[in-house]
Amino acid sequence: MLAVIGGSGLSELTSLHRVQRRQVTTPYGEPSSALTFGRIGERELVFLARHGDGHTIPPHQINYRANIRALADCAPSGIVAVAAVGGIRADLAPGDLLVPHQIIDYTWGRQATYHQLPEGTLRHIDFTEPYDAGLRLRLLAVAARLGLMLGDGAVYAATQGPRLETAAEIDRLQRDGADVVGMTGMPEAALARELDVPYAAINIVANHAAGRGASRRAISLAEIDAVLATAMQSVRRLIEQLIGHDD
Ligand code: HPA
Repeated sequence: MLAVIGGSGLSELTSLHRVQRRQVTTPYGEPSSALTFGRIGERELVFLARHGDGHTIPPHQINYRANIRALADCAPSGIVAVAAVGGIRADLAPGDLLVPHQIIDYTWGRQATYHQLPEGTLRHIDFTEPYDAGLRLRLLAVAARLGLMLGDGAVYAATQGPRLETAAEIDRLQRDGADVVGMTGMPEAALARELDVPYAAINIVANHAAGRGASRRAISLAEIDAVLATAMQSVRRLIEQLIGHDD
């Protein structure tokens, strides 16, 4: 069974034949939403809305530890995380879809590990390749089969939010080597690794990052919503196909 974390613009999967909604709790508290168990065709799926059912929880206040633990407790074959991003790299345009391959973490003050006292113990994890290679490849293969454009690789910069960045901050992220910027990729990816759950992401470019392209003077939040509404149709198709080939 695959797990899907839906971000902005994806609070439910329409093709999901909903079997059960389950309110769960974890030693770290409640996840953002009830878990939705469902079926697409014959295959099972568990879905979690990262920002809550009504899209109310800001990125820095999401209980990432509860979310990942709740999904890990379902013993999924992997977690596919869907997240909107701003495009930094010059060739990226709103509506583009990417499977990132690297992360730079600029977040702060989040509960970012299970390995701390008193409930945890000291343990380091290897995080050289933050995303699961096998799950990334499966996403890319499914997109190719569908004829969907899905970019292979991007360096994801995780910022604190909830505000968007300044133009100078985006310049700095670009100098650091970042291609896209979002607010929720960390600590989510690291927590999944700590619990040994394969994790990969689909990034939807919702806007040009601050100071870039159409966002040279300002970022239009209304346009972000419109872009996400359209792009999520492709993301849904991608996930449905992926689930259909989850063995
Ligand atoms: N910056 C950070 N997070 C985002 C952006 C952005 O420009 N767009 C969508 N999520």
